[in-house]
Amino acid sequence: MAVISEVRSGNGRKIVLRFPEKGDLKELKRLYTTLSDRTMRYLRPYRFTEREVEVMLNRVDFRNVFSIVAEDDGRIAGEVRLITHETGSGEIGIVVHDDYQNQGIGQALLREMINLARKKKIRKLISFINEKNSTAMHVFTKEGFEMEKRFPPSMNLMGREESVVKLSLHLSSG
Ligand SMILES: CC(C)(COP(=O)(O)OP(=O)(O)OC[C@H]1O[C@@H](n2cnc3c(N)ncnc32)[C@H](O)[C@@H]1OP(=O)(O)O)[C@@H](O)C(=O)NCCC(=O)NCCS
Repeated sequence: MAVISEVRSGNGRKIVLRFPEKGDLKELKRLYTTLSDRTMRYLRPYRFTEREVEVMLNRVDFRNVFSIVAEDDGRIAGEVRLITHETGSGEIGIVVHDDYQNQGIGQALLREMINLARKKKIRKLISFINEKNSTAMHVFTKEGFEMEKRFPPSMNLMGREESVVKLSLHLSSG
């Protein structure tokens, strides 16, 4: 198992941050298909299917698509993914399961992915965040991401006008 680091969650659990393996498929399916509506609201308007999670895991090649998972004694609590673009930038997405949110795991995953991106000489990281997603806005800006662009508000499925912002972080080459 390729362990990157270990952190203590807010409630004292030992969380292992590591690269995913093929054997994680069952747990990743559980993670993505049991997210609450509240969590899905900031990800996308339709739910993940098991087949899609399988495709997502298969896409991780550590050349163009990177992933780090947070494991709590066999349970996958969250995942951060980085998809590189031909422009030399990489797009980050993070999910922490409802059962594990607000315990420092999202921040730990983000920091490790930033470290990995530096090692891979990725020059710029971006993420698209719903402006109302104050937790994600806080977590990303705390790590140095800044607003690059604010897209015009559009109507979401609940009939609310919401804006998405593009956050970015420039990584030094040193
Ligand atoms: C955003 C997300 C990844 C954060 O993960 P997490 O493990 O819950 O985050 P952490 O516990 O590491 O950090 C949460 C931080 O937000 C703060 N926070 C909590 N609720 C907040 C709120 N309503 N507004 C602003 N900040 C808030 C916490 O105080 C903490 O900051 P601190 O350590 O400086 O005190 C997680 O909530 C999630 O998966 N959300 C749904 C998917 C998503 O939005 N992904 C991001 C877009 S790709």
